[in-house]
Amino acid sequence: MCGIIGYIGGKSAVPILMSGLSRLEYRGYDSAGLATIVDGKVHNIKAKGKLSNLRALLEESPVQCTTGVGHTRWATHGAPSDLNAHPHCDCKGEISLIHNGIIENYLSIKKELETEGHTFISETDTEVLVHLIEHNYKGDIAEAVRKSLLRVEGSYAIGVVTSKEPGKIVAARLDSPLVIGLGRGENFIGSDIPAFLPYTRRVQHIQDREMVVLTDSSVEIFDLSGKKITRKVTEVHWDSAMAEKAGYRHFMLKEIYEQPRTIAETLKGRFDGDDITIEEMKLTNTDLADVNRIVITACGTAYHAGIVGKYFLEEYARIPVEMDVASEYRYRNPVLDDKTLVIAITQSGETADTLVSFRNAIAQGAKSIAITNVVGSSITRETPNLILTRAGLEIGVAATKTFTAQVTAMILLGLKIGRARGTISVEDFRMFREELHKVPALIEKILQDIEPVRTVARKYYKSRDFLFLGRSVGYPVALEGALKLKEISYIHAEGYAAGEMKHGPIALIDDMVPVVNILNHGPVFEKMLSNVKEVKARHAITIGIVNEGDESFDEYLDEIIKVPYIHPNLSPLLTTIPLQLLSYFIADKRDKDVDQPRNLAKSVTVE
Ligand code: F6R
Repeated sequence: MCGIIGYIGGKSAVPILMSGLSRLEYRGYDSAGLATIVDGKVHNIKAKGKLSNLRALLEESPVQCTTGVGHTRWATHGAPSDLNAHPHCDCKGEISLIHNGIIENYLSIKKELETEGHTFISETDTEVLVHLIEHNYKGDIAEAVRKSLLRVEGSYAIGVVTSKEPGKIVAARLDSPLVIGLGRGENFIGSDIPAFLPYTRRVQHIQDREMVVLTDSSVEIFDLSGKKITRKVTEVHWDSAMAEKAGYRHFMLKEIYEQPRTIAETLKGRFDGDDITIEEMKLTNTDLADVNRIVITACGTAYHAGIVGKYFLEEYARIPVEMDVASEYRYRNPVLDDKTLVIAITQSGETADTLVSFRNAIAQGAKSIAITNVVGSSITRETPNLILTRAGLEIGVAATKTFTAQVTAMILLGLKIGRARGTISVEDFRMFREELHKVPALIEKILQDIEPVRTVARKYYKSRDFLFLGRSVGYPVALEGALKLKEISYIHAEGYAAGEMKHGPIALIDDMVPVVNILNHGPVFEKMLSNVKEVKARHAITIGIVNEGDESFDEYLDEIIKVPYIHPNLSPLLTTIPLQLLSYFIADKRDKDVDQPRNLAKSVTVE
């Protein structure tokens, strides 16, 4: 959700904080602000709206300082406004705080503090925490923060500065990400690594219920009982170019074009003879062979990747697989045991619902695997069994390359479990190995000729509604195509299992509605042909994603977009690409903010 950056050192802090915030803006963009120490005093500056508004304020009244924290907000409590923007201050303007998360018991604490005479000026839950710190301050800011955190319920990643101890930043986390960057004569905090990536690659991951005290020359980590903790320093391999657009108009387009490489990376070194090796996973083939049921939990795009995985696992590992959106799963009372494998899929590794539902399942004794793109993210601490998707940093709010990487990871896992259980033949295994390795070059080919997709976008970008239809693994592709379109272009779009059309949704069709059909070759090809005929007979505008060389649909399709043939179970890795491009071109044509669509944030760390 919100983005956090902090700097303490010998350089001018404002340019560092502002460039950090611009790399974090994808996390939230309702408002932004800085809390700095200028001449021994706390100086806050904040503005509603995008970072450019804050930048304009700073140009009008420049700030010189070497210590500060910055925040870009995705509103939870209190509408986006100057007053609700972070940082928030205590009554005397001596302590300033930025916060990512939600303080759930803020109302009761607020009442108490009001009786003591504290005055609140915003509608936020966050402001309560800074007043609580003021209340607990007895000459040691770290101690006041520690005491206050023992009182609050909810989730937080915070950064605190105070004029009383100007050479310090205090930070802490619970269920919201926080990373420390270690420099020479300077240190950083960030809600993720890109915040400070141009300055250092040496990081320490802060864990739940830990706090950290930073000066320009020291970093000390404590738990909330005040005990000092030693944490290893890790070196990250991302470079700052990954956080730049590299000549593309938008991050989303750049990330779509990265897919040949990110899939190749995710596959690299995984095939070991007739088995799959996943170094970051501790479960052995014997453990996997013992599994008799699989549950997959995820949200949004990751959920769609899960459906592709479910179909593959059922077919080749011959295990019953259930799928649930994590926001539902966490409130159910599922039946689990040690023969159940729970798989969480989350690119950020921070999605609150996915984390909690996964944690609950592990607590009930289930075996666990997390598929994530972010090394060191919260989910990586929940299980010793990971599959890392190696898609690199994704900045566009709409997930693209992480979706295809998640699908690739699910296929690898399906092959591994199939081998462990002896349910996939060596011939099929080898055939998939070959097919998977063709995927990067085939995506490259799709990306070399994007004109047909652009033409469709140009013709239909003014439509009010879109439908996406698919069967079998084309169904999650249809869901994903619809999600991409609605989230960045704000066009109403629905994805349906094509066979469901006649049970209701077909009533939506008229000659104004473009219907995008996933029509690659496979076991449901003939069935899809009938579905296209049905919608065509109702005068829909029919758009088809078809295999090169296939002419069987030509008379029923108004628009044809071709993709190369691949084994049907792997087809989502190809058929998704034109749908990502279609939503991109339509959103761009409608002049929407492709990388930062309204109301959304890159990682959803609140419920
Ligand atoms: C859509 C999108 C979201 C995420 C969802 C889960 O483009 O990005 O639907 O897929 O919020 O996020 P992660 O994978 O980080 O758990």
